Amino acid sequence: MSQNDTFTASSPGKFILLGEHSVVYGKPAVALAINRRFRCSVRRNSVNTLNGMTLDTNIHPHIGYILRANKINGVAISTESGLPSSSGLGSSAALSSSLSAAIKAMKGEEGDRRVIADEAFNAEYEAQGRASPLDASCCTFGKGIAINCSESVGKEIWSVSKGDNGWRISEVAVPKMTFVVGYTGVRARTGPLVEKVRKYKEHNRFASDIVDEIGKITLDGVDAMSRGNVEELGSIMTQDHKLLSILGVSCNELNKLVNASLKYSYGAKLTGSGGGGSMIALTDEPEKVCNTIILHGGLPFIVETGVPGVTVE
Ligand code: MEV
Repeated sequence: MSQNDTFTASSPGKFILLGEHSVVYGKPAVALAINRRFRCSVRRNSVNTLNGMTLDTNIHPHIGYILRANKINGVAISTESGLPSSSGLGSSAALSSSLSAAIKAMKGEEGDRRVIADEAFNAEYEAQGRASPLDASCCTFGKGIAINCSESVGKEIWSVSKGDNGWRISEVAVPKMTFVVGYTGVRARTGPLVEKVRKYKEHNRFASDIVDEIGKITLDGVDAMSRGNVEELGSIMTQDHKLLSILGVSCNELNKLVNASLKYSYGAKLTGSGGGGSMIALTDEPEKVCNTIILHGGLPFIVETGVPGVTVE
């Protein structure tokens, strides 16, 4: 291995099927990895750079965290993303996860996925001020990830806690289903939306009940998915969208795409932190959903789910 060797790793993006926001408070959630990846290459260098420019860790706090966690100073990083940033599709978790894996490869380390997921989670936690390990786990382990669901759902892969909240992360089997993602084109940062829900929940009993209700219907959704009942799962997704709207994290652009897609879908909802970003629709008429998303101002793509997690290339 020479000093100039380049090490590359990639991680999948993800969408949250059910349970965003309430998972921050330790409620159940499910996320599925998608066939759009974030790729990170690293090589030792005299200074830290990102895509040829001096790295500013104030602008890229996730990168700053991963470099500190790995005690690395002096690296040239280049990135290539199949995921729009701030789109609710896990670009920051996929960046942290692939960067962590590439750096470990550069250091000649094995790269235990639990360590990578933990670093990616802590990067999110520090950058957002509050976070769950859902995105970090899904972008690292790939396939389907369930948090705080019953033990019968799948094998536990890791667990973590912060303050009053604890998360048990398990694999979940992903049956063949067709999803369309609709990107609103509106970039929305996760931190402020997580903070908005925290304030609402802390000052309002009703908001706290909505967070609990999202957790309950997520368990019903996981059960419907395990039985392959797409009608039931879709209707729970649409219900989840309504609850998230009550929490104040939807927006006109998302509601427009969700409502338009419902005509050709089993169900549809915003995915991720909301406020813009993307929605998903569960459907067996993907072309019709794509067309209606375009007609309503969004950018659609049909996604494959259940894809592999972080990979050193
Ligand atoms: C963001 O993709 C998902 C949220 O639940 C935040 C988190 O889990 O860290 C909104």
